[in-house]
Amino acid sequence: MDVDAAKRAAGEAAAELVEDGMTLGLGTGSTARWFIAAVGRKVREGVRLRGVATSRASEELAHERGIPLVELDAAGVDLAVDGADAVDRRLRLIKGLGAALVREKIVAAAARRFVVVIDEGKLRDPLGGLLPVELVPFGHLATLGLLDELGGGFQLRLDAAGRPLQSDNGNLIADGELPLIDDPEGLGARIDAIPGVVGHGLFCGMTDLVLVARRDGAVERLTAPGSLA
Ligand code: 5RP
Repeated sequence: MDVDAAKRAAGEAAAELVEDGMTLGLGTGSTARWFIAAVGRKVREGVRLRGVATSRASEELAHERGIPLVELDAAGVDLAVDGADAVDRRLRLIKGLGAALVREKIVAAAARRFVVVIDEGKLRDPLGGLLPVELVPFGHLATLGLLDELGGGFQLRLDAAGRPLQSDNGNLIADGELPLIDDPEGLGARIDAIPGVVGHGLFCGMTDLVLVARRDGAVERLTAPGSLA
């Protein structure tokens, strides 16, 4: 099975967790797309569902697939399903290659169940890789200077035209290369303490279940210690 087929298997396996009447968090990226497509099929079959999109791209896809969209409110969502760029055995994640990390984290935090869908190439122990951070444009050079003290050589992400990429929130994205993160919670807290940082791609203690599509076609379930997922 190739990587795209594995992404599809993981995304479609997550759709089996969907129940009539649910409000769903719709993640962003090439794996979450398969979940959204499967949710669209359920809506066409008459299942009553509503979605909260984590990006403009997912909003457009949900519109195309006929999924009714609502604003996130205090009631939260029943189930949020999203991809990830790296996942360790304690279900800590790096997210944000799709630049949607802030909305994704808001929706994950508002979810009664947060499920992550990946192909097995995303498993990393210890956690590491490219870590995205969203910054407000004001004073971003000063913010980058403070991020630089953490290592990783944080640099602004550029769009296809070579200009600083703008997130859906109108902010900037900086990426740092951190191949080995021994203390994701500690690093996340240090980044959160930098003024000018809106959010970062480390998601710790948020995930209930990871569905990992293996190359042989099997979908494995990884659950957080103590989780009933
Ligand atoms: C977007 C994300 C994505 O979920 C993550 O980048 C994984 O994407 P893909 O499924 O395309 O590999 O965090 O901000």
